[in-house]
Amino acid sequence: MNKVVRRLVLTGTALALTLGASACGGGEQGAAGGGDEGQAGKIGILLPESKTARYEAFDRPLMEKKLKQLCPQCEILYQNADQDAAKQQQQAESMLTQGVKVLILDAVDAKAAGGIVTSAKQQGVAVVAYDRLATGPVDYYVSFDNHKVGQVQGQTLLEALGDDRASGQIVMINGAPTDPNAAEFKAGAESVLKGEVEIGRSYDTPDWSPDKAQQEMEQAITALGKDNIIGVYAANDGTASGAIAAMKAAGFANNVPVTGQDAELAAIQRIVADEQYMTVYKAIKPEADAAAEMAVALLQGKKYDKATATKNNGSKDVPSVLLEPVAVTKDNIKETVVADGFWSVDEICTARYADACAKAGLR
Ligand code: BGC
Repeated sequence: MNKVVRRLVLTGTALALTLGASACGGGEQGAAGGGDEGQAGKIGILLPESKTARYEAFDRPLMEKKLKQLCPQCEILYQNADQDAAKQQQQAESMLTQGVKVLILDAVDAKAAGGIVTSAKQQGVAVVAYDRLATGPVDYYVSFDNHKVGQVQGQTLLEALGDDRASGQIVMINGAPTDPNAAEFKAGAESVLKGEVEIGRSYDTPDWSPDKAQQEMEQAITALGKDNIIGVYAANDGTASGAIAAMKAAGFANNVPVTGQDAELAAIQRIVADEQYMTVYKAIKPEADAAAEMAVALLQGKKYDKATATKNNGSKDVPSVLLEPVAVTKDNIKETVVADGFWSVDEICTARYADACAKAGLR
């Protein structure tokens, strides 16, 4: 486990665990039935991709740590699908064959993953939907308020544009069409951007691929003209990196604001260096902890009683925990990701960023 994750596990998180007040109490029966309390078993974790840094650096180790703490005898199986829905299906089937009692599933393709959920349930295996809500008879769901993530991105972009909103157009580089979160981020952003600024081009980015985001941005620059683009809504830090690469190659100045999400280290460094305007910090520890608690409750036939919301996935109202996203700009890096132990000033302010860090008051 790397240093960052160890520190997170030790300190916990001060931010973002702003849950609503009332429990909805919509929990499901545990997979193992009532009489199996305290029992161990196999728990499978299926994560969707590895180009976005969060999954291998935070989600996986944090979930494994919490699962081991809650159920020391449990065996944890882990697979990453590298953005391939068919591969995720095979990984799930293999875990079911190996006898997992609970799956924690972050779907590559939420609709296709309905098949995984259904076959799991047919075999008496419970399913926790993690971050992305799969279709089918899911037991519990933990994520962030994803519509709000989009609103926060859109609102912060508008603030950056200030009075210049009418002087040009923005480009939207959205996430993958197979990810229901991407649609929520986009809808949330559009809800604040539309009517306030002209959206010149809008792309859905297959696989959330930074390379495809770069190509989309190149197309937008060709179509709209460099001087007419006043800002970029990029749905996450990976797509922001692609958009920024295209903008640099086309000779854009640093002051054209670009959004992001995930508070990846590279994005925080770009923010310090004025290459990216904002990111969204989603504290992963409370998300990973809740998933582990849900999974162990299901395994042991206990009720998980901390769900504070429900979210409909087309099949049912799924008892859910939805965490709060936080906007990060240069002005509040210290108060957010640094204060929360997500990144240290040492990690952010490497030699290359020393001057920019000094100017930003981080040193
Ligand atoms: C997650 C984001 C992530 C994106 C790409 C979304 O479902 O919520 O945090 O950047 O997928 O993996």
